[in-house]
Amino acid sequence: MPLDADFYKAVEPLYYSGMGTEHVAPLLYSLVRMTRPRSVLEVGLGYTTPFLAQALMDNVREFEADRHLLANPGEDEERRLVLAEEYFQADYSPRHHAIDDFSDQDSSGKEALEVIEALNLKDMVRVHDGDFRGLSGQMNQSAFPLDLVWFDCGGLPEYIDFIGEYWHLINPQHGLLLLHFTYSRLSFVRDGVQNVALICGPVANEIKRQQVHAGVNAGFEVLSLVEPHKRRQGSVTMIRKLSWTSMCRDRDFQQEVLEISGKQVKPLIRL
Ligand SMILES: C[S@@+](CC[C@H](N)C(=O)[O-])C[C@H]1O[C@@H](n2cnc3c(N)ncnc32)[C@H](O)[C@@H]1O
Repeated sequence: MPLDADFYKAVEPLYYSGMGTEHVAPLLYSLVRMTRPRSVLEVGLGYTTPFLAQALMDNVREFEADRHLLANPGEDEERRLVLAEEYFQADYSPRHHAIDDFSDQDSSGKEALEVIEALNLKDMVRVHDGDFRGLSGQMNQSAFPLDLVWFDCGGLPEYIDFIGEYWHLINPQHGLLLLHFTYSRLSFVRDGVQNVALICGPVANEIKRQQVHAGVNAGFEVLSLVEPHKRRQGSVTMIRKLSWTSMCRDRDFQQEVLEISGKQVKPLIRL
């Protein structure tokens, strides 16, 4: 089932407006559909949970249809031409690992399990009932490396503990870490004038700081998206680990294009 009206009807009871994940959830769905993770980790269940699981299920269906297409040329030549044949040599059987200690009475974590069952997504999801701290050591090794991680739980101490324990378990080949609620609305005085603004919080700032200090050798890239109409729960910071194919090449742009294509091009403007 794609994200159609029936899906949204089924997940509606999980939507607690205070959690602020109404736009992040479909964003997570699209990220999973695009990046095809084999292992997804979610910490903090609720509205986002069925979006992640459904995305994996839809990936499996699309993978099988594309594999069939590659074996049967002529059915949809345009689609066949965009597919990378070597990608389909390995099977695709993804898993969604979902951690929650169900400590928060104001979360729809428990109900998410019922919705997952009603949507026939139960086989896709492995629920880990407990504190995320120390849990990585009890998870089956087949869960690693983690290709996409969605962390939506607790405050500053939890973010520090989570990154400390799970960062090295994220796939060095383009693994994605998404952190919720990384910006805060603060009031401050600037040039003698009282202001209010959404400001990058300490965790997102530290990640950016480390990236900047690593310069061209940075092994990850970072991007934050902010919902300007929200006071809280309105931001997500994405960190993508970089394999050598995506790391910055410290090379002159025009020289590189000349070597690759034999063509002289104009310089790119300085951004
Ligand atoms: C902000 S809610 C998750 C919201 C959910 N992603 C959504 O879209 O509705 C945080 C969840 O994390 C769980 N939680 C809090 N502390 C935890 C911990 N230390 N370990 C595991 N789960 C925890 C709570 O029980 C709660 O279900």
